[in-house]
Amino acid sequence: MKPRATILTHAVQLLTLRGAAPRRGASMRDLAIIEDGAVLIENGKITVVGTTDELGRQLKSRVPQSLSRASRGTRAPHSGANLGNSESPVEIDCSGKLVLPGFVDSHTHPVFAAPRLIDFEKRISGASYEEIAAAGGGIRASLRGVRESSQVDLANHVLHALNEMFVHGTTTVEAKSGYGLDFDSEIKSLEAIREAAQHWPGTVVPTFLGAHVVPLEYRDNPNEYVRIVCEKMIPGVGPQPASGEPAIGFRADTPTIVMRKLAEYVDVFCERGAFTPEQSVRILGAAVAHGLKTRIHVGQLTHTALALFAEFNPASVDHLDQLTEADIALLAKTNTVATLLPAANYFLGLSTFPPARKLIDAGVAVALATDYNPGTSPTTSMPFVLSVACTHMKMSPAEAITAATLNGACALNLQHRKGSLEPGKDADIAIFDATDYRELPYWFGVNRCRQTILNGTISAK
Ligand code: NIG
Ligand code: FE
Repeated sequence: MKPRATILTHAVQLLTLRGAAPRRGASMRDLAIIEDGAVLIENGKITVVGTTDELGRQLKSRVPQSLSRASRGTRAPHSGANLGNSESPVEIDCSGKLVLPGFVDSHTHPVFAAPRLIDFEKRISGASYEEIAAAGGGIRASLRGVRESSQVDLANHVLHALNEMFVHGTTTVEAKSGYGLDFDSEIKSLEAIREAAQHWPGTVVPTFLGAHVVPLEYRDNPNEYVRIVCEKMIPGVGPQPASGEPAIGFRADTPTIVMRKLAEYVDVFCERGAFTPEQSVRILGAAVAHGLKTRIHVGQLTHTALALFAEFNPASVDHLDQLTEADIALLAKTNTVATLLPAANYFLGLSTFPPARKLIDAGVAVALATDYNPGTSPTTSMPFVLSVACTHMKMSPAEAITAATLNGACALNLQHRKGSLEPGKDADIAIFDATDYRELPYWFGVNRCRQTILNGTISAK
């Protein structure tokens, strides 16, 4: 349901996280809380944020926009509110509830066909992620399912994941391809993301991850695969004239020609067993040359100096289990967000986690995401990620919430629209059965999200 106007009232705590810049250091602990908070949503955007009293006063002071409407006696029901429109706003009473910006899950791999249960059992028996991959499991084990699936089936899988996500309070999702790893299957994966996104009221940001691993057919010639990624796949997913427009003779600067992109970002898995730093640099260079933004999986198993990638101005560097002081100092000086994915460490049964405390204390903008994927992190729950972040990385509950909302929005360059509750931003809101923000990471393994609002659309209770 997407009403023209919705009013949320009486939130015990309204976590606004006011701001449009990444939060660093101590400011990650400032959630800008309003008690007995209220929000007015009009046409999918937030228009007023304040206490319930303040909102009531603002609505009363509004002058009816047209006499004819006023003469029909149109009044919104809330506190004599008048929104100047004949449609009454929907009112959601948030008494006893916690209200916050919808989570921004800025790192997911939802385009896969089946869980990897064999890998799961092998790991329980003691094999490592790398050993399983070397024995034919790992990312490559997911390729067949994607290559053999239809686009519609893949889109249904993605939509299923997106729906699970909003049930846990997520309203914006970055979604990567990366289990097709040939031209047609990667395009099919990105089209599946687009199709699923069209059926979902939240916001989806597509990322091309053709450089997830070298597929078996190029095992003996990985540089040939890198060439195909750079010269065929990236041009294929970058800006194109929209279908129906002439393929020849269009000018990118002509406003009448709509450019269509299958992906906003290019990602690369820079890791032993995946792509070398040199190959990763080539791929990111091709991305920038084709008008795509960059993000990188780096430092999950082995260390790579982040300075190598500075020229590509990545929106985010993700995983970061292996980091040096020099990397941390570099990140603290840039707008690149450090996205930590502790659910992957949890699921792999590791006893080590990314150094969140060092990063935050050094002033790096830290985000948290699920890394939803069939190999290392089959969870769609951001509250679970928050819980692991607090218990295993020693992030405070407030830091974890900032990392999962405003800083996640920054990791997708969406901080002007997402990640906080303030006038002008998209109405992306999560309502939890809790009265204190510390309960979000505290209750784990249960879902206390009661309702989600995605671009103004209210999910069923
Ligand atoms: O982020 N590290 C690379 N990609 C995924 C794992 C993908 C898989 O195992 O299927 C990750 O952990
Ligand atoms: Fe990942």
